[in-house]
Amino acid sequence: MTASGCRTMGAFLAELEQNHETRQTCELLMTVSISRFFRDRRLWETLEKTLLPDIIQRRSEKISVWSAGCACGDEVYSFMIVRDRLSKTCSHLPGFEVTGTDLNPAYLQRARAGIYSAASLKELTPEIRSEYFSQKPGKKVFQVKDSLKKDISWRIHHLLSDPPGRDFDIVFLRNSVLTYYEEKLKKRAFEKVLSRLAPGGILIIGSHESIPFETSDLAGVEAYPYVFRRATEK
Ligand SMILES: C[S@@+](CC[C@H](N)C(=O)[O-])C[C@H]1O[C@@H](n2cnc3c(N)ncnc32)[C@H](O)[C@@H]1O
Repeated sequence: MTASGCRTMGAFLAELEQNHETRQTCELLMTVSISRFFRDRRLWETLEKTLLPDIIQRRSEKISVWSAGCACGDEVYSFMIVRDRLSKTCSHLPGFEVTGTDLNPAYLQRARAGIYSAASLKELTPEIRSEYFSQKPGKKVFQVKDSLKKDISWRIHHLLSDPPGRDFDIVFLRNSVLTYYEEKLKKRAFEKVLSRLAPGGILIIGSHESIPFETSDLAGVEAYPYVFRRATEK
């Protein structure tokens, strides 16, 4: 508030109303980057054991994945770890196109660098940790292996604007707009995301979140109240 030259809350609210730049700065300051690898560990086990093998079996062309509100990339690299593990057991693995988006460019810069604290890795087994990360000498930070960075594109994107692609086979929309936005904006953002999920595609929301409106277009998957499959026909 003081950085924008306002002395009272009233003046600041008026400034927010009138000045797009102040609004944008404020929005970035309010973003929360908390995340970690394999957050909701059971979900990632199911992704590796059934959800992804299922998609792989039905597809020969590229599989496209969107992590919307990816913060510093933990979710995206978690997916790449699952993909890599499956590449060792699947006889044919199609190509992948993975898009990580966030409105905060500073988070995306950190995602590109792929350097994480031990806290971000706490859900990982020691085997996964040593296979996919190297520890910076003398430091308590871990760097993802370069091989995991292949096929990822990182893009700045606001979830109230047009999505960065179409026909995604898997969309992660976890712990962002569905937690932090008011109802009206949740619905607007969610409609946009849903419109770009391929028929039969999988949508994963946060484990404490819910779909903001009734829709027959999505059906629950397995025992998870936060994993959905889009109907194949409308
Ligand atoms: C708490 S993190 C969640 C990261 C990851 N999806 C997870 O579940 O671990 C929320 C992220 O959503 C981003 N975010 C919030 N509102 C957004 C919006 N309108 N458009 C794009 N990203 C947004 C924030 O910048 C932040 O990086």
